[in-house]
Amino acid sequence: MATVRLDQKTRALVRAIPDSYHSALAKFFGTGPKDIDLAKQQHESYRLALEAAGIDVVMLDADHKHPDCLFVEDQAVIIDGHVLLPVPGHPSRVNEQPPIADFLVSKMGGAQICRMSGDARMDGGDILRLGDLFFVGRSTRTNDLGIEELRDLLAHLGHELRVIDIPEHALHLTSIASTPTDEVILAPEGYLSKDAFGELPEGCRVIWMPEEEIYGCNTIGLPGAKVLVADGYPHVAKTLESLGLEIILLDFSEIRAADGSLTCCSLFY
Ligand code: GLY
Repeated sequence: MATVRLDQKTRALVRAIPDSYHSALAKFFGTGPKDIDLAKQQHESYRLALEAAGIDVVMLDADHKHPDCLFVEDQAVIIDGHVLLPVPGHPSRVNEQPPIADFLVSKMGGAQICRMSGDARMDGGDILRLGDLFFVGRSTRTNDLGIEELRDLLAHLGHELRVIDIPEHALHLTSIASTPTDEVILAPEGYLSKDAFGELPEGCRVIWMPEEEIYGCNTIGLPGAKVLVADGYPHVAKTLESLGLEIILLDFSEIRAADGSLTCCSLFY
């Protein structure tokens, strides 16, 4: 999940891989998962890596009727203790949300919960936070009505929102960018214009990676100068090491096969 600052990352929700995972949507990074046992092992390593970094992780049961249910990032937008429950952009994913919403309501006592409605659509994977500046991808999953609802919430919280058009050959904004720290955006060459993120606050910058390392650009920065990185993207790993970060490499091949990246599999709340 890419909507919390580093200092807000203490508790995370993940969701187990369903037995139906071989039917997950796959159009961008992968052609569909083949080895569900391996996917489960990779997902377990992810959970353990978050825990080893000091995050309190809760795992929701899988929903075997929803092959994409592990991608919890898309189902809720959590910002400064407020929760926006979007209408997911793909119809097959709409009914993944109720148990996640129930969990958040039960754990985030006092949180303001807003529900998107009507024709507004949004996947949480289209939102990226850099410190207190927000970006949203206008994508095949997130439309202008959804963006306006997010803008209203952010205006209430005093945060700025910038819109980025996602090219048709990418799924979400977080499929092509992440913030491994509160000052750095990592993004691949060739997907966005060099000024896509606009002028950044002092001390912040975009670091562009080779186009072929696009999948590696999705990282999870963690407290204590640690960062989760998908294995197999050497430029990304070297760049993050040069920033003084401790790299935790994870094999995510069977998650990538269903277009899932590291941030897709958790919600920090
Ligand atoms: N397979 C993840 C998604 O398409 O939403």
